[in-house]
Amino acid sequence: MELTVRRAGNEDYQAVLEMSKGHYEGHDNAPSCFKQWLLRDNITVLIGTYQQKAIGLCAVSIIDDGQTCFSHGLRIHPHYRGKGFGTQLILAVREFVRQNYPNVLCERYTTANTHHARLAIASKTQDKLLFQQDSYAFVVKKDRIQLSKLNGLNSSCLSRVYKYDVEKFKKDLEKSQDLFKQGIMVINYEPYKAVPSNVDLCIEEGDCLFTDRTQGLYLQQSNQLRSFSHGCIVHAAKFTQWAVTVFTNDLVLFQGHLLLNLQVAFACQNIQGDIIFRINHDQDKFLKETAVKLLQGTLGLEPETTRFEDFRALLFEKELY
Ligand SMILES: CC(C)(COP(=O)(O)OP(=O)(O)OC[C@H]1O[C@@H](n2cnc3c(N)ncnc32)[C@H](O)[C@@H]1OP(=O)(O)O)[C@@H](O)C(=O)NCCC(=O)NCCS
Repeated sequence: MELTVRRAGNEDYQAVLEMSKGHYEGHDNAPSCFKQWLLRDNITVLIGTYQQKAIGLCAVSIIDDGQTCFSHGLRIHPHYRGKGFGTQLILAVREFVRQNYPNVLCERYTTANTHHARLAIASKTQDKLLFQQDSYAFVVKKDRIQLSKLNGLNSSCLSRVYKYDVEKFKKDLEKSQDLFKQGIMVINYEPYKAVPSNVDLCIEEGDCLFTDRTQGLYLQQSNQLRSFSHGCIVHAAKFTQWAVTVFTNDLVLFQGHLLLNLQVAFACQNIQGDIIFRINHDQDKFLKETAVKLLQGTLGLEPETTRFEDFRALLFEKELY
C-alpha cells in the first residue's frame, strides 16, 4: 500500500472536495484555499496518490526567511484512513522539503486536541509540542444582535484599541516582541516567526490588524507591544468565520480587541448572513472566561459547540536534520 506524492494542480480540485466532504463539521476552509495556495510563490501543494487516485492533501509554506516550513490542510480521504497513508504522506512531505528546500531546518504545524489520529502520528514521529492556543467561537446572528447594543458598549476598553498599520507592525517587529511566545506568532493557526519578513506572508489583503499603540505617541512609548490582534474572513465549507487571534495579557485591552473585531466583522460587506466569530489566543483560562462573560453574558451570543467545544490548537515542531 504505497503512497506516491506529486505536486497538485487545478485539476485536483474535485478530488480535494471529495476528500474533504463533511470535514470539520462544515468548518473546513482548505478547499476554498486550495486554488489560492496554488498561486502563492512560497506554498507548494502536494497530493498523495494510491493506484493513481488522489487520496491525500498537504500544503507546505516556506517562511522565516527560508528556514522553516509549516504544513497545513493535511487530510486523507475518509475511505483510506487508518491504513498508514497519513503517516506515509507526512514523511513524504518532509522528504520533499529536505530535497527541495535544503535551508529549511524544521517543520511546524498546528493540530487540534481533538485530532486523535494526527496526534498519534505526532507521538510516533516524536514531534515536539511547543505550546497551545485556546480556540473557541460564537454564532453572531446578524438579525438578532443589535448594532446599537454593540456600539453602546463603547466602553473604555474599546476606546483604547485602534487599527494598526502593516508598515508600523513590520517596524515594531524589528525588535523582539515578548508578546509572542517563543518568538512565534500563531495567526489563524499558522505559525510565523515574529520578524518583519514574514508580515507580507501572513497578512493578506482585507485582513485587519489592531493594537493599543497610538500613532501619535509612538516615540514616547516603549518598544514592546502590549497588545495586538489580527482578524480575517475565513470562508469555510458551510460557514463564514471571522477569525481573530489576540495577543495580550491585559484583560481590558483583550476585551477592546474582541469588540473592535466584532464591530468590523459585523460591518464587513463581504459577509452575508450569520458569522462564526472564532477567537484564538495563548492558552489562558482568564482570557477565555473574560471572552465568554462579554460575548455570551453581555451580548447574548451563542457559543459554537459542534466543533469548538474544549478545542485547542497545538503547535508542534519537527527538526528536519
Ligand atoms: C490525520 C490523518 C491525515 C491521518 O491519516 P491516516 O491515513 O488515518 O493515518 P495513519 O493510518 O497513518 O495513522 C493513523 C494513526 O492514528 C491512530 N488513531 C486513529 N484514530 C485514533 C484515535 N481516535 N485515537 C488514538 N489514535 C488513533 C491509528 O491507530 C494510527 O496509529 P498507528 O499507526 O500507531 O496504529 C487522517 O485521519 C485525516 O485526514 N483526518 C482528518 C483531518 C485531520 O485531522 N487532519 C490533521 C489536521 S493537522
